[in-house]
Amino acid sequence: MSERLDSAVQLAGSLARMSWYSGLNWIMQRRARNLASPPAFKPTLPVPNRNELLADLRSLLRSDAEAVREGVMPAGHEEAFRPLEHLRRIRGMFADLPSATERRVDRDASSVKEFANGDFDELPEYFKQDFHFQTGGYLSEDSAKLYDIQVETLFHGSAAAMRRRAMVPLARFMQGRDQRAVSLLDVACGTGRLLKDIRRIYPAMRLTGLDLSSSYLEEAQGYFGNLRRARWLAGNAEDIPVGGASQDVVVSVFLFHELPPEVRHTVAREVNRVLKPGGLFIFIDSLQMGDRPGWDGLLEAFPVRFHEPYYRGYSIDDLEALFVDAGLRVEAEEIAFLSKMMVCRKDAIAG
Ligand SMILES: C[S@@+](CC[C@H](N)C(=O)[O-])C[C@H]1O[C@@H](n2cnc3c(N)ncnc32)[C@H](O)[C@@H]1O
Repeated sequence: MSERLDSAVQLAGSLARMSWYSGLNWIMQRRARNLASPPAFKPTLPVPNRNELLADLRSLLRSDAEAVREGVMPAGHEEAFRPLEHLRRIRGMFADLPSATERRVDRDASSVKEFANGDFDELPEYFKQDFHFQTGGYLSEDSAKLYDIQVETLFHGSAAAMRRRAMVPLARFMQGRDQRAVSLLDVACGTGRLLKDIRRIYPAMRLTGLDLSSSYLEEAQGYFGNLRRARWLAGNAEDIPVGGASQDVVVSVFLFHELPPEVRHTVAREVNRVLKPGGLFIFIDSLQMGDRPGWDGLLEAFPVRFHEPYYRGYSIDDLEALFVDAGLRVEAEEIAFLSKMMVCRKDAIAG
């Protein structure tokens, strides 16, 4: 009974959240248009209409609420826990809009360089640019504070639910296992949103969050509040600073579309290296061309509107071949709104 109630409250909250972020999206777009005309671009491929998008988003939110009922995901929404902080971040997002719009018009993705610190030269070249014209790229504290509100606004409040799909295969994997003995690594954990959801369901699991951005890791650490901490590692996914065969589970969300093609291969091989035999890899990222042919125009338009230099290549990459080359076996694939999830295994050693 109480699970049913949790699930109904979760769905009502998610739908309210969707309307809230859709409203913010609408205001942001209007303001951006008043500042400068958006780049003229008409997709050549088909795009879904608004009703199709909304129906699909609602179905994602229903699955999320269902998973809450099953106890696989925690209930609640970040904004409801920290309403004042949420309002502060909205203000920050609006304050950032003029400069972000100006850079978008100028196709200037170099604001990250203003935040170059001692280690800047060591960072990979592909990382030293502003993805989606984010002020400060991934290097500033403000960027880390605004990332989630910007992403949720862009995706009408669906980002958390797309990410949390990872908790369904994770729950299956955890059946019959003692969480205290399970280690999980989030590669490019960003601001730690998924890790916190995982922590709330698995308080004793050994969690590690890896990211190249120290600012994002700091935000993640603060976001954990009083929950049992995770281990936070500042490092490159191309050379993950953990031992071989040390992790039972690796997750990675919204990373691969921001990597050059050869780096996608290197990171996939690293994931395979750090996994124990029999370990699980849960990958979540954007839909790809052909996943939903009627939506391909959206994928065509995305890198035109936003600075996403590797997105086009990602959108036509053969991910199954990529993971198989790295030594992984793809067990399942699922599409959820604008994202796709692939569940992979590193085979156990026979005998
Ligand atoms: C689009 S964000 C996704 C963050 C988070 N996983 C999420 O679900 O929102 C991409 C993240 O990848 C990190 N990143 C990019 N390249 C990386 C690399 N080579 N190694 C580690 N982290 C990287 C960025 O710092 C950023 O936090």
